[in-house]
Amino acid sequence: MKRFLSGIQATGDLHIGNYLGAIKPCVELQGEGESIYFVPNLHSLNTRPDPAKLRKETLSNIAWFMAAGIDPNKSILYVQSGVSANAELCWILNNFVTMGELSRQTQYKDKSSKKGVEGQLVGLFAYPVLMAADILLYSATHVPVGEDQAQHVELARDIAERFNNIYGDTFVVPEAVVRKVGARVMNLQNPDKKMSKSDEGQSGNILLLDNKESIQNKIKRAVTDSEGLVEFSDTKPAIANLLQIYSGVTGDGIETITAKYAGKGYGELKTDLANVVVDSIVELQTKYHELLKNEDYLLEIVKEGNRKANEIASAKLLEVKVKLGLL
Ligand code: ADP
Ligand code: TRP
Repeated sequence: MKRFLSGIQATGDLHIGNYLGAIKPCVELQGEGESIYFVPNLHSLNTRPDPAKLRKETLSNIAWFMAAGIDPNKSILYVQSGVSANAELCWILNNFVTMGELSRQTQYKDKSSKKGVEGQLVGLFAYPVLMAADILLYSATHVPVGEDQAQHVELARDIAERFNNIYGDTFVVPEAVVRKVGARVMNLQNPDKKMSKSDEGQSGNILLLDNKESIQNKIKRAVTDSEGLVEFSDTKPAIANLLQIYSGVTGDGIETITAKYAGKGYGELKTDLANVVVDSIVELQTKYHELLKNEDYLLEIVKEGNRKANEIASAKLLEVKVKLGLL
């Protein structure tokens, strides 16, 4: 039986990259096995967020998951801090990973370089270990993520194999599920850089909370190139990015889309892209706002999700502790 697991951090406003790279694949995989989706709010502590904001964004991510189609009757939907076994396994796994491996994680290099020495917290450095614990504790077979997180899933595999080699079969060795389209949505103003919640200014990011005019303007102002040819190619990163967003939102193949715009200019592509993005985001927003109106209901979902997650996690943690001789 496949078990899908993924988490979206509650740090900053979600953008269309988060949706196409992570949330949408989670929804599509929901019927293909068991699924566990969660908000990794312990991970968010490495930005020292304002407590009220962290609480709000945690519930907001639960609402986005549900608005996109995650059904709490079909998937476990929970919050990382609600299961203490996550942090406990993380501590154990810290002893199965080296400083060298962690320093080679590109996310750490990127995020710490933006912050200076003060921002180089152990919690940021060690975050892939907590992520490995999130995955291994629940015996996930598949982890749908955007491309930037694939390296962390690779590390979780190494940790699992290392542990299994010493103590016998304990952890399932997980596989990252990275889509061909939408796994790395680029910044509309700088197509060499991925869209990121931590970006300064948001003119190159389509946020899930953007209104219609703002989405239209951002797409209209997206950088292109001087060739005027709608083609999907590595040498045309700006156009390739618009095409992958189009494909991700509509489900149409890239070839279908390039055929449709053959001989047409970028203007037409952009207008149509803005329309399909607006339609899908507006639909998501309507459901999202509806869900947020009832905080008690969301808290109830989280409570029930945490209960189910705890059951799975505590059984695995006990198995690990016995193997390690922890009383
Ligand atoms: P961000 O980098 O914007 O802060 P996170 O690190 O919280 O986002 O990522 C949440 C999920 O969204 C992860 O699975 C990540 O791989 C995916 N993701 C983030 N940015 C993008 C992007 N630009 N394109 C596709 N997927 C992305
Ligand atoms: N580190 C991931 C991110 O920043 C979020 C995350 C935490 C996660 N634990 C996970 C994703 C486990 C998949 C599986 O996007």
